[in-house]
Amino acid sequence: MHYSTKKNNHNLPHDPFKAIVSPRPIGWIGTQNSNGIRNLAPYSFFNAISDKPYYVMFSSTGYKDSIKNIEDTKVFSCSLATQSLFDKMNFSSVSAKYCVDEFELSGLTPEDGKYVKAPFVKESPAILECELWKVIDLPGSNRADLSGSYVVFGHVIGIHIDDSYIKDGLFDTRKAKPLGRLGYMDYGVINDGNIFSKRRPQLDPEGKIITE
Ligand SMILES: Cc1cc2nc3c(=O)[nH]c(=O)nc-3n(C[C@H](O)[C@H](O)[C@H](O)COP(=O)(O)O)c2cc1C
Repeated sequence: MHYSTKKNNHNLPHDPFKAIVSPRPIGWIGTQNSNGIRNLAPYSFFNAISDKPYYVMFSSTGYKDSIKNIEDTKVFSCSLATQSLFDKMNFSSVSAKYCVDEFELSGLTPEDGKYVKAPFVKESPAILECELWKVIDLPGSNRADLSGSYVVFGHVIGIHIDDSYIKDGLFDTRKAKPLGRLGYMDYGVINDGNIFSKRRPQLDPEGKIITE
């Protein structure tokens, strides 16, 4: 099958787009407003986009509280969402009023950022502290009615790793078990059963691919 997204005539009961672009990491975005009221929400239109320099992005479908706080304060945190924190991550996605602190609502411990003035999830094994670089309003967005999609780019200026997740000098992804967002209501978990390691291949002098 194929279909035009301009017509969206896929004739499927649910839009398959997010199931195709999966798994997506979850950026658990911590912010606070100018009065110091904290905010926490998961965003799966999220990823690292560079490590030289360190940059991440996430996209808000609709102009939501997280992006409002980020535009006001110019900073945010991304806590790693893991299997053991699943329920609390999910709780923190509720549509709550602007003044509601989702750390408190979800039973999570907020920790003040060390590098930027944004709270993060203390229980998370790894956290990125970010300064806002820029927000891009995607075509069709309208700030007057908060509709459309807004992409936030952040410069990662501080990283925390819980020392118990460092093994032989490496971040222990097997122990952390990060969540991945799939399509529909589905999630995946990165764990020992689905991690494998492989070097990139090289070309030999004849131009043939050599693998180890
Ligand atoms: C796993 C997960 C991923 C989500 N990803 C996004 C996303 O990428 N963009 C978005 O706008 N909302 C996303 N949501 C919904 C937001 O978390 C939800 O609208 C939340 O209330 C926004 O909070 P805020 O207004 O405090 O920023 C996601 C929810 C869950 C559970």
